[in-house]
Amino acid sequence: MVELETNYDFEEIASLATRVHSIDDLESAISSGGYPVDGMVVVPCSMKTLAGIACGYASNLLLRAADVTLKERRPLVLVPRETPLNAIHLKNMLQLARMGTTILPAMPAFYNKPSTVSELVDFVVGKALDVMRIEHSLYRKCGIKDKCAGDSSSAQSAREN
Ligand SMILES: Cc1cc2nc3c(=O)[nH]c(=O)nc-3n(C[C@H](O)[C@H](O)[C@H](O)COP(=O)(O)O)c2cc1C
Repeated sequence: MVELETNYDFEEIASLATRVHSIDDLESAISSGGYPVDGMVVVPCSMKTLAGIACGYASNLLLRAADVTLKERRPLVLVPRETPLNAIHLKNMLQLARMGTTILPAMPAFYNKPSTVSELVDFVVGKALDVMRIEHSLYRKCGIKDKCAGDSSSAQSAREN
């Protein structure tokens, strides 16, 4: 998918990561609830993977790690981007939401007048980081009439005009 949808290849993406696990490596540390992690974000999360998580069908490392995250009651954030959604998708999402999973669809906001694809992506990534309580400055946190934190008033009025 990375190669289909972006200009990066797998090696370039992997080089950005602190650790890379093979999806088939069920013996990886993150398969165990005893391994200390703060939580898990799946982005993007296909409807197939979301269904696997909802059913506890831990057939690969991603599904097993999500299963562990749920059983250890750690934060789990899923970022689906399928559209439109059928009743099975919605049922699976509701089931997971009721268990405390955050369903965070890849739906960017437009109140901050994004002008690049990067800004759209940053908003969704920032929302996921918020759930994990990781500080960032990827998007401006403000309401429609609020002054935005960290904005100079001239930049703010330029955006509003
Ligand atoms: C070009 C293409 C685009 C796709 N986009 C999505 C998508 O945005 N969301 C989604 O849930 N599935 C999408 N799918 C379907 C998933 O790729 C498919 O369900 C796959 O089995 C998911 O496997 P995974 O969960 O192991 O990644 C797409 C498939 C193709 C071929």
